[in-house]
This record gives sequence, structure tokens and C-alpha cells, in this order.
Amino acid sequence: MIEIKNINKTFGDNHVLKDINTTFIPGKCNLIIGRSGSGKTVLMKTLVGLFQPETGDVLFDDRVFNKMNNNEQIDVRKDMGMIFQGGALFDSMTVEENVMFPLLMFRKEPLKVMLERVNFCLERVNLKGINKLMPSELSGGMKKRVAIARAIATEPKYLFCDEPNSGLDPQTSILIDQLIMEITQEYNITTVINTHDMNSVLEIGDNIIFIHQGELWWKGDKQNVLHADNKELNDFIFCSTLTKKAKGL
Ligand SMILES: Nc1ncnc2c1ncn2[C@@H]1O[C@H](COP(=O)(O)OP(=O)(O)O)[C@@H](O)[C@H]1O
Ligand SMILES: [Mg+2]
Repeated sequence: MIEIKNINKTFGDNHVLKDINTTFIPGKCNLIIGRSGSGKTVLMKTLVGLFQPETGDVLFDDRVFNKMNNNEQIDVRKDMGMIFQGGALFDSMTVEENVMFPLLMFRKEPLKVMLERVNFCLERVNLKGINKLMPSELSGGMKKRVAIARAIATEPKYLFCDEPNSGLDPQTSILIDQLIMEITQEYNITTVINTHDMNSVLEIGDNIIFIHQGELWWKGDKQNVLHADNKELNDFIFCSTLTKKAKGL
């Protein structure tokens, strides 16, 4: 479980995160939703330790991450997998080398064992046998799958995905969402996903927080997100003709 308590983050005069408190649940897709610029990426970067909050704590299974020394932080980092916006594969490395990368960094195992793990992860994301291809030879959806394989290579307890569907068509987006959801449940991972994609919200939103101008404005799940009595959330959700029709507006 990941907990955040009283998180405040500013950049100069820009108070980006305003006293955020919430819990992210294991085995679930925990969604952070909100308009562009609302603070989703800053919140995720604060969770993984790329930004230091001015106040507040980030707890990973009751361990206060932001107050640990370097070695202790590395220990928690070993349990994290990340899929950043755009997939961010290493272009000069093959698929196999990309997925191997975190294993070489964090595991001291014989090459053969690590290679078996790479092959297992590629098979899990339905990309068996593409080891020697370069990222430039892959479609957008395949790149995301490789990014997922790389993120789960070290068997993370926590998985962070910043806009995992950006740049994908709606059908491929749903396949990627489903894959992330299956993996989350199968391995009981605490998965945190930033998104503004309404399909994702309704498909995989087990636990949802809506951030509005840096404040936690609403909490809920995919069952009640369409029925919330919250103007800003409704403005966010029902901005398209499609979602208005779905609600019968
Ligand atoms: N490294 C940074 N330095 C200064 N300001 C930043 C930085 N990163 C984000 N911001 C600011 O934080 C706010 C929230 O940005 P962000 O978290 O990227 O929004 P979202 O991911 O919801 O679209 C914006 O006003 C942005 O300008
Ligand atoms: Mg963002």
C-alpha cells in the first residue's frame, strides 16, 4: 500500500500540490485523473522521489520514503516499476536489452536467469520472439508493451504509469489498459496511473482521485464517477458529446 499525507509542492510562486492525502490500494488500478496542468505528473514524480515535497510524507508499506537516506531509498526503488509518458524506450538498444536493463541494474543473477526473466516478461505481454528488434521497428502499441515488460521485469510491488495511452488509438489503448489491469491483479501490484482518458477511467478505475488545480477534489471509483455531485468533476467527464449521450444529457 502507498499512502500520501499532507503533500504540498510548490515551484516558486506556483503552488502545484495543495495538501494531498490519499491511499493507493494493492492489487488495484489507482487512477489520478484531472485536466492538463492539474498536477498529476508532479504528484507521480513526488511519489517516486523525483520531486521532494515541501511538506508531507509518502509511505510505502508504512515506510516513510521521503525521509530515508539514499541507501534506504534505493531499497524501495527496487520495488518500483515505471512507465513514463511516451514509453521512453532506449532507441539504441534492442527490445531484449531494454527489458534486461533494470535487471542488470538491480539484480545480481547469472545472465541466463535474467534472460529467462526477459523472455517470460515478453511472453506475458504477447511479444514472444521479438528480442532482437529495435524500438524503431515497433508500432506504438508494441512499444508500450515492451515498456510494460521492462517495468515488470524486476517483479515490482509498485507500478507507476504516466499517461500510458498517450499517442495510441482507442482500441489499442483499451488493450494496454486491460494488460496493466491483469498484471496488477495477477501480481497484487499497487498500480498508480495518471490519465485523462475517459475510457480508462470507466474500464479500470478501481480507485480514482480527481485532482483539480492541485487539490484533491473528489475520490471514488468507476461505479460512481458518472454519478458524482461535483461540478468540476462533471465538467471534466461530460465535456464530450459522447459522454453526455452515455449519461442521457
Ligand atoms: N519541473 C517543473 N518546474 C516548474 N514547474 C513545473 C515543473 N513541472 C511541472 N510544473 C508545473 O506544475 C503544474 C502541474 O503540471 P503537471 O503535473 O505536469 O500537470 P498534469 O500532469 O496534470 O498535466 C503546471 O503548472 C506546471 O507548469
Ligand atoms: Mg502529465
